[in-house]
Amino acid sequence: TKQKLWGGRFTGKTDPLMHAFNQSLKYDQRMHAADIRGSIAYAKALRRVGLLTEEEEVKMTQGLETVGREWATGQFQPAADDEDIHTANERRLSELIGSLGGKLHTGRSRNDQVATDMRLWLLSEVDDIESSLKGLVRIMVERADKERDILLPGYTHLQRGQPIRWSHFLLSHAFSFRNDLERLQQLIPRISVLPLGSGALAGNPFSIDREFLAKELGFASLAENSMWGVGDRDFIVEFLMWSSLTMTHMSRLAEDLIIYSTAEFGFVTLSDAYSTGSSMMPQKKNPDSLELLRGKSGRIFGDMAGFMMTLKGLPSTYNKDLQEDKEPLFDTVDNISASLKIAEGVIATMEVHGEKMQQALTMDVLATDLADYLVRKGVPFRETHHVSGRAVALAEARKCQLNGLSVQDYKGLHEKFGDDVVEVFDFEASVERRSSIGGPSRKTLDRQIAVLRAALGQK
Ligand code: ARG
Repeated sequence: TKQKLWGGRFTGKTDPLMHAFNQSLKYDQRMHAADIRGSIAYAKALRRVGLLTEEEEVKMTQGLETVGREWATGQFQPAADDEDIHTANERRLSELIGSLGGKLHTGRSRNDQVATDMRLWLLSEVDDIESSLKGLVRIMVERADKERDILLPGYTHLQRGQPIRWSHFLLSHAFSFRNDLERLQQLIPRISVLPLGSGALAGNPFSIDREFLAKELGFASLAENSMWGVGDRDFIVEFLMWSSLTMTHMSRLAEDLIIYSTAEFGFVTLSDAYSTGSSMMPQKKNPDSLELLRGKSGRIFGDMAGFMMTLKGLPSTYNKDLQEDKEPLFDTVDNISASLKIAEGVIATMEVHGEKMQQALTMDVLATDLADYLVRKGVPFRETHHVSGRAVALAEARKCQLNGLSVQDYKGLHEKFGDDVVEVFDFEASVERRSSIGGPSRKTLDRQIAVLRAALGQK
C-alpha cells in the first residue's frame, strides 16, 4: 500500500474529510513551475556538496524536467494522496527515476520549499503586474497629451469648483498610479529573499551553498535567519497591502467615470466593449466594467485583512495556518491583474464629450478668478472673496450669470472694478493663469507628462 511522504510514524489512516481539508494541491498547483525550478537548483546544490553524483544529478534534473513538462502540457496525473504541489512533484519524480528521487529532499523541508516557491512565483507575477500598471499609466498620459484643449469644471464635494483641463483630471489619477508603480518596485527586493536552505526551521546541516542557490534562482538576497526564513509571510502581506491601496485608487477613478458617464453629466461614454445591458430595460447601457473595478477593491482589501488576521498570534516559524496564504494571494493577483488590463481598455476606448464639459462650465466657477482680479488691484483676498460672493448672490437674484452683470454693477460692488473685469470671464485664460508647477496650464501639463513618462522609462 502507498505511504504518505511523512507516513513512517503513523499507523492510523487520515480521515477522508481531513485529507480534503488539508489538501492544497487544487490551488497550489499553479506554482508547479516554481517548484520544479527550485528543486532543480537544489539538486545542483546537493551535487556540489557531494550528496549526489554528477550522474545522479543529471538523472534527477531530467526527471524534474519531465514532471515540469507534464504540468505544462496538462498531462500531469495527480494522485489521490498528493497533499500539495511539493508532495505531488516528489511522488511523480520517484515514479520516474525510482529511489534516487528520495534523495532530493535531503536537508530540505516543505517549509523552506514552499516559502521559496511562493516568492519565486510572486516575483514573476509582479513583473507582469508592473507591465500592466505601466500600460494603464501610459494610456492616461497619451490621452492627456492629445486632449488638452478640453476644459471642464473641477469638482470638490462634487460641486463645481474651478475650471481645469480634462488632461489635468486624467493625470491626477495617473499620479496616484505613478506612486503605486514606485511602491511596487520598492517591494521587489523584499520579495526577492531566498528561504531555501533554511530547512524545517534550524538551517541546513550539509553545508549547502545558499549563495549559489540564490544566484541560480535569481534571488537578490538570502534569508539570514532560518526561523525567519520559513515563518515570514510579510512579502505577501506587503503585496496585499499594495494591491489594496492600488485598488483604492482604481475605485476612485472608476467612481469619477461612473458619475461622468451618467446622462446627467454626459462627459464620457464607455465603449460597448466595456459596458453591458439590462435584461429588462432595453435602453440601458451600464458601466459594469467600472463598477467591477470599484467592487473588486473591497474584495482585495478583504484578502489582505483576512490574511493579516491569520498571521496575528501565530507562534514562530512554520504553522499550517500559513497554507492559508495562498488563496488570498492568488485571488488578489488574479483580480488586480485583470483590473489593470480592464482599466486600460476602458480608458483607451471611452469617448470624451468636450462640448458637454464646456456646457457644465458655468460662470460661477470663475468666482475665485473674480476675487483674484481685485487682489491684483491691491485689495486683500479676504475682502475680495466677500465682494465676489456678493456678485454671485446678485447674479443669482437676477437669474443671470456673473458675466450678465454690467460693469456698472461691478463698480457698485467695489470701486477697484474697472472695464477690464469682462476679461475675467474666460475659462481658457483662467486655466492658463494657473501656471505654477502642479497647475492645469499647458506649460505645467507638459511638465506633468514629462514626469510621468520618465517614471515609465520613456523619453
Ligand atoms: N502545503 C503547505 C503550505 O502551503 C506546504 C508546507 C507544509 N509543511 C508542513 N510542515 N506541513 O504551507
